Amino acid sequence: MSEIAVVGAGYVGLTTAACLARLGHTVTCADLDEERVRALSKGEVPILEEGLPALVAEGLAAKRLHFVVGALAAARGAEFVFLCVQTPQSDTGAADLSAVEAVVREIAPVLRAGTVVVNKSTMPVGSTQFVARELSRSGAPADVGVASNPEFLREGTAVRDFLEPSRVVIGCDDAAVAVRVSDLYRDVQAPVLVTDPASAEMIKYASNAFLATKISFINAIANLCEAVNADVREVALGMGYDSRIGFEFLHPGPGYGGSCFPKDTAALIHTADVAGYDFSLLRGVVDVNRHQHERMIEKLRAAAGGSLQGAGVGVWGLTFKANTDDLRDSPALVVCERLLEEGATVRAYDPAAGESAGGWVAGLDVVEDPYEAVRGAGSLALLTEWDEFRWLDFARVAEAMVAPRALVDARNLLDPAAMRRRGFAYQGVGR
Ligand code: UDX
Repeated sequence: MSEIAVVGAGYVGLTTAACLARLGHTVTCADLDEERVRALSKGEVPILEEGLPALVAEGLAAKRLHFVVGALAAARGAEFVFLCVQTPQSDTGAADLSAVEAVVREIAPVLRAGTVVVNKSTMPVGSTQFVARELSRSGAPADVGVASNPEFLREGTAVRDFLEPSRVVIGCDDAAVAVRVSDLYRDVQAPVLVTDPASAEMIKYASNAFLATKISFINAIANLCEAVNADVREVALGMGYDSRIGFEFLHPGPGYGGSCFPKDTAALIHTADVAGYDFSLLRGVVDVNRHQHERMIEKLRAAAGGSLQGAGVGVWGLTFKANTDDLRDSPALVVCERLLEEGATVRAYDPAAGESAGGWVAGLDVVEDPYEAVRGAGSLALLTEWDEFRWLDFARVAEAMVAPRALVDARNLLDPAAMRRRGFAYQGVGR
């Protein structure tokens, strides 16, 4: 079993650290946020991620998981250093590697001979080489290895995705280093693909871009279904039986969001631009997505009689999808922002986003109760597919609302006939 440092205790870093500890390794996870480190050391997990608190508790109890402030403290003496820091989108769309660069420069002088630095964060093609170069420039021992080992973790199921992955991808030019990295996963049942660093980095971007393409494709089909009176749910079902297509990622909605798809599609378009390739297909995917957020506004505007000025809109769901508390790049927030811009009064409820959610959009009133969110509103926008929304008392919802009682179900979560029976002017997406 190995001594591993994980730099970054965010969604990816924390899951990686806890899961590597579960696999039997001794893991020191570093973050710059002292409060976060203090809380984690007591087993308090600051994010909503199923199974993660139990794994963190288990790792702490077994003394295989430790939390420290700063990368240096973790990297000193480690056999592997996983880089799990943020790679946000810069103004050009490119991934901003400044956090990666800062960590690499900081840790290089204290790394011991033979350590392997592993790029876990999503980093553009060429980053493995970039990290190797920065390490040697900053005084790392000459035999420090570097590998790309992209993550494919979905928020909400990240622990399962780590421990039961569809594949483990390792990008490394040095076969001995690749074998050492793959050995970390020896108790994981999954195909291991060892390839060159550029291909590994591209696998991550191509996978996310492809999934984003599926979503934009089904959103476009949904829009067309509305025009020709077809039901996109039947269409997706009929398509999905073809194993070449599959059922997954064919749910239409308000467009994709979250910390990965918007950022990674932009970064891949930027990579293509720099490489002189016009990735018009992916630009189309991004355009469809942007337009899909706006489609929700169009539906709400029409429901309010052509103008949202002065309209009361209740919103259910603010996170970018269900079973996470993550608001980053959430389509629901875009919709709220646009509603407010058009003069609507918006009161929102989300089961997990917490009170701080109001701070993400100026003028957004966030309440603690789904019925309170719709009180006196003429429209309800259901923007995130939280299961609890299915089981609310819709007679009470209808009573709390005023005419026209428009219900825009951006996730096709509810039964249209049942909602119409209850007096709602129901609209789904593509049905
Ligand atoms: C994604 C990838 O799935 C994961 O492999 C990668 O490592 C990180 O990015 P995540 O961002 O957690 O994970 O969420 P995901 O479940 O993929 O959903 C992304 C967005 O697409 C959400 O906004 C979701 O609501 C939307 N979506 C997803 C749809 O609109 N329709 C679908 O059918 C599926």
